[in-house]
Amino acid sequence: MKKKIGVVVDGNNGEMVNAITTRDFGNDRWVAASQRRFNGLGETEGESVWRGSFFFAQLADTQFGAIEQNLTDAPEIELATKAIETLNKLQPKYAIICGDLVNHVPEMYPKEDPNIRNLQVANFKKVMEKLDCKIPLVCVCGNHDVDNSPTSHTISRYVSEFGDDYFTFWTGGVCNIVLNSNTYYDPANCQDYHNAQHLWLEEELKSARAANAQHIMVFCHHPLWLVHPNETEDPEEIGFLEFTVKSGAVIKIPNTYFHIEKERRLQILSLMKKYNAKYVFSGHWHKNLIVKSEEHDVTNYVTSAVGLQLGGDKPGYRLVKVFDDDIEQEYFSFEEMPTSVDLTKRNSKTLNNSDSCCSSNSTCSRKQSNEIIF
Ligand SMILES: [Fe+2]
Repeated sequence: MKKKIGVVVDGNNGEMVNAITTRDFGNDRWVAASQRRFNGLGETEGESVWRGSFFFAQLADTQFGAIEQNLTDAPEIELATKAIETLNKLQPKYAIICGDLVNHVPEMYPKEDPNIRNLQVANFKKVMEKLDCKIPLVCVCGNHDVDNSPTSHTISRYVSEFGDDYFTFWTGGVCNIVLNSNTYYDPANCQDYHNAQHLWLEEELKSARAANAQHIMVFCHHPLWLVHPNETEDPEEIGFLEFTVKSGAVIKIPNTYFHIEKERRLQILSLMKKYNAKYVFSGHWHKNLIVKSEEHDVTNYVTSAVGLQLGGDKPGYRLVKVFDDDIEQEYFSFEEMPTSVDLTKRNSKTLNNSDSCCSSNSTCSRKQSNEIIF
């Protein structure tokens, strides 16, 4: 990875100016997350200092191969290409994909050729390598990356493909913590590893708070909860996700399949509350949802898929503006994706979206000529 990093200096308006001249995230993208850090986005690279507002893109579930049930990943190649084209125009500070990068994980499809995963991973990387080399691409592991019940084998395979499964990175004064939520979902086959990750989480939160992080954000694949932070494993309590497949059959999956069990969810939430980490971003549900726990002062942004949809949303991703005091965000389909982001605009209605339960209504009225500005 080429890095040529300048100094951080005071700007005219009193805010810090990003004086980084060149960072090339295009080479060796897939080994960027290592030793629990992300090369190029760290304290030593000047990223722990607040430099003023910025925006990033949060994507989820590119899941190459899901739409055609591993027969082909052509639909996802087309959709992910749209994601890359729009990201290259928007130039976010970074893009993060919250898990299920591809669909085939051999342990989940034991009757299928295990090489299908290798082909999907190769296609995923081929498309993603078209991302502008200045934009860091952060990958998060999902259940289709390490299996619903991860093991040392499935995690090692993921690490060899995409780098670390849990790590921290900094972006202009904001501390971002990436979790492998699969071990929280089911630690049965990786209990020691899970325990180590949870101890690490507390240490990272503690250090971020001690370092006066402007915000602390958590990224993972699974929504921590879907209805209320104390929901249990009773399927009747939080309902079902219903969707129709190509054949016309209606599939009904208990929503308990998608969240983290209460005990381990509350362990994360209590730590987030203790260290004043207010935002968690996830995917996995293939629908948009925003839920807030007043008790913990944590908002969970669940983002629909770049690929397969299981609700009424269209393929797209979430844009997140980060201000000194809060964030603003909105999910956009590819068709409605803005062509630029205006960080001088604040929209009090979308601040933290604490009273919102859904952000799929991405109709944008801020059209100027053919441009949409978020
Ligand atoms: Fe998933």
